[in-house]
Amino acid sequence: MMTEQELVQKAMEMRQFSYAPYSKFAVGAALLCEDGNVFTGCNVENAAYGSTICAERTALVKAVSEGRQMGFVALAIAGQRDGYCWPCGSCRQMLCEFAPGLKILAANEKGDYQKTTLQELLPHFFGPHSLS
Ligand code: THU
Repeated sequence: MMTEQELVQKAMEMRQFSYAPYSKFAVGAALLCEDGNVFTGCNVENAAYGSTICAERTALVKAVSEGRQMGFVALAIAGQRDGYCWPCGSCRQMLCEFAPGLKILAANEKGDYQKTTLQELLPHFFGPHSLS
């Protein structure tokens, strides 16, 4: 099983594939599954700015589209500044659908990171339970 530091390293490496000509802010993400599998992602921007997808959602959608809907353990996110790269609101919402207890590792450009849970970042979320 990958260590937290290795997962952060993977997220940092993924920044190289970022397509961010507009913000020039490269983000990488790495989503660890309980069986050790890791799904990676980067942000992919668009000339129609609102069509941009974040690194975290890229990783999540890759996992779901490969048949994974549960067993997510941790998500590392790496940005390009001194500050830690916390997931945006849309990513928090999308991640809660599949992994409300997910461990979140928010890293800065150097690979220092802060740790929390998705539950902490999005309490009282609107989810599948809200519709039943
Ligand atoms: N971005 C991410 O990929 N993840 C985050 O957690 C924050 C923001 C991207 C979206 C956009 O391409 C760029 O960073 C600037 O907002």
